[in-house]
Amino acid sequence: MKFISIQNHKIPALGLGTYSINGMECTDAVSNALGQGYRHIDTAQMYGNEAEVGAGIKASPTEREDVFLTTKVLTENFNKRDFMPSVEDSLRKLKLDYVDLLLLHWPGTDEANKLALDLLNTCIDKGYTRMVGVSNFTTRQLQYARNHAPVICNQVEYHPYLSQQKILDDLRAHDMFLTAYRPLVKGAIAEDKTIQQLAEKYRRTAGQIVLRWLVQQPNVAAIPKAASAKNRADNLNIFDFELAKEDMQTIFNLNKNQRFVNPGWAPEWDK
Ligand SMILES: NC(=O)c1ccc[n+]([C@@H]2O[C@H](COP(=O)([O-])OP(=O)(O)OC[C@H]3O[C@@H](n4cnc5c(N)ncnc54)[C@H](OP(=O)(O)O)[C@@H]3O)[C@@H](O)[C@H]2O)c1
Repeated sequence: MKFISIQNHKIPALGLGTYSINGMECTDAVSNALGQGYRHIDTAQMYGNEAEVGAGIKASPTEREDVFLTTKVLTENFNKRDFMPSVEDSLRKLKLDYVDLLLLHWPGTDEANKLALDLLNTCIDKGYTRMVGVSNFTTRQLQYARNHAPVICNQVEYHPYLSQQKILDDLRAHDMFLTAYRPLVKGAIAEDKTIQQLAEKYRRTAGQIVLRWLVQQPNVAAIPKAASAKNRADNLNIFDFELAKEDMQTIFNLNKNQRFVNPGWAPEWDK
């Protein structure tokens, strides 16, 4: 496992995404993933599986302090009445005293973001989280966030078809990291001819090529979701080879600014 060093913290560069893994399947997937060597798990209030993720961590012999756990606060909770109770509810469901990273899941209005950022500071003070960050924030919103809380991360969609150069430049300049969600384009990246050629060249799977391309970039972590144990094992097996510089560039050249996660509440991305 590679660890990213950011602001005196060590973040495992590869994590398990848990969106749409629910019930016992989720508990088993998390506990099995920790047994496989995963040390970074991603959940959210929105996923409705915090209890199952927490149960998976409890069921595993891995020590709590060796797991890097992220959860995210729903935008509708960015108000004085609901924010702190929602975080306390997440901890109750997870059956944990703290998470490692607490994110604002999607930006709200600047006013709502400001209030939520203030309350992220309260969460640090109360020991509810070690680090705080945001998700789906534009560079303008990120700049604003930095002025109000010690945000360390922006979790955004990132894969070969969607460049995040602007956000990456900004994050690197501030010793922050990017967590890449939808890294495998939901598995569709395996159909890409260029990625297939690289997979043949390196005798790896297409998914491994793309995940290696992500974690080989400075300040980048990736959180592929895999309900299947085989996919989870494949995705973790990327730390014993390196992509040549020209092959890294070949994958950067696949960019088409193509975004797959773009709900009605998304921000104006280019601002
Ligand atoms: N912050 C946000 O707004 C946001 C938005 C979207 C996602 N996320 C986070 O990011 C995580 C990952 O994103 P995602 O779930 O949207 O998409 P993804 O990780 O790109 O794709 C997951 C899909 O790819 C398949 N897969 C996994 N490994 C594979 C492999 N080695 N070979 C072939 N197929 C493979 C999985 O199959 P199986 O499950 O059958 O193994 C699943 O169907 C989420 O689970 C969530 O934690 C965050």
